[in-house]
Amino acid sequence: MFGLAARLGAQWAQTPLGRGLVILLWCLAALLAAGVVVFVGKRLGGLSLLAAMLTDYGRAARFGGRPPVWLDDPPANALRITHLSDLHITEGPDVRMVEKDEPGGNQALQALLSRPEVQESDLVLLTGDVTDRGTAISWRAALDALTEHGLTDRAVLVPGNHDLAVVDPWGGLRSTGNRWRRNDRFGVVQLANLLKFAESFAETGGGKRGFVLSRDKELVRYEQAWLEAERAVRPLIAALPSMPVPKQRLGAGWLQRRSEILAYEARIIAARKRLLALFPIAVPMPGHDAVVFVLNSCTPVSRHPATNALGRIGRAQYKRLDALAGFFGEHLKLVGLHHHVVRRTEEQGRGFIDRLMAKFTVLSDASPLVRFCRKHRVRAVMNGHRHLSYNLRLPSGTTIMASPSSTLGDELAHDPRPQLIRYDVADQPSGHTVGIYRQVVRLPI
Ligand SMILES: [Fe+2]
Ligand SMILES: [Fe+2]
Repeated sequence: MFGLAARLGAQWAQTPLGRGLVILLWCLAALLAAGVVVFVGKRLGGLSLLAAMLTDYGRAARFGGRPPVWLDDPPANALRITHLSDLHITEGPDVRMVEKDEPGGNQALQALLSRPEVQESDLVLLTGDVTDRGTAISWRAALDALTEHGLTDRAVLVPGNHDLAVVDPWGGLRSTGNRWRRNDRFGVVQLANLLKFAESFAETGGGKRGFVLSRDKELVRYEQAWLEAERAVRPLIAALPSMPVPKQRLGAGWLQRRSEILAYEARIIAARKRLLALFPIAVPMPGHDAVVFVLNSCTPVSRHPATNALGRIGRAQYKRLDALAGFFGEHLKLVGLHHHVVRRTEEQGRGFIDRLMAKFTVLSDASPLVRFCRKHRVRAVMNGHRHLSYNLRLPSGTTIMASPSSTLGDELAHDPRPQLIRYDVADQPSGHTVGIYRQVVRLPI
């Protein structure tokens, strides 16, 4: 159309009617181009993110760094942290997980939580995939286990992709070809799961002591922000199962149907935005000059099971994080998120699938986080996600502490034993060390 408009422009520009036609054609061509840009932006956003992850485009995956030197003994007056991750709790001890033909981590969790290393902690940080598919019953099971062991008030939850983004038909993927094409077109599952996470977070110490940034950039208690967000969002989520989904069909009445779809979608997008604005959350530690920043690294909308593991913090959340950190002068700053910040170099020499997975599952926008850590002198970043443990001290001094699955084991080490990591963090690094005492507690299977 551009070519046609340009060619006609030369021939027809002699008459007023010709000039009008040329202008009309140019307008049509511009409209078409704008439509294509909007379509690609909206529909292929996930694909471009995927391309970014697979190619390292626009992302620094290797930040340098070296292995951290731990303290030889636990320091006095330390902040004692139990790091749990990827528990994959299902609805009951015999309910299988979504990706594996095995029961979830329910039973192992009971054994882990009764350990003295956990009981004597100031903070129990759960860095995502607490549940296997984000259902209300599995959240209940996880929260009840924390309550039974007297840990709810010390617990801080971080959302993982299994908590938020696992779209239902995994089972169907294996059995029928048709289900492969079933998308969660409007991201309804993720919206409902965000609500369940935010509600669960409110029950824990993180929810009771946490703060978020309001829309006016003021500091507000998480409890207040959550109640306001819940009031705005829950009626829509409760009504969704009975709301007819507008059909997308060509033919008579297309415009009317299109506007109905856009109105339906706009309500879901607004609700999702409202819940996403609850992140990041800053949780000060009582009795310690310390604060934990909780990030949501599962912000891309997963419309299909295959894209559930993509990780991204997003520019808006990073902006809020920077502003939120300005309110907290605490000496010891920690960050909790689900996705890996760096790719482990050891994995580069392994098989194709391992290399692909290593690229695929690392945070796609890690650079701003590393800049944040440098600017605010963050002592440690704690994460989970790939069920493998590694530690790295960045050139800025921040230690990255990646946890294996506490209930399913360490896949890097081929160690399936349930295990937890306990960190005793001193006020500051000392000598050649990072000022942290690290202890791994492994349980028999
Ligand atoms: Fe996991
Ligand atoms: Fe994960």
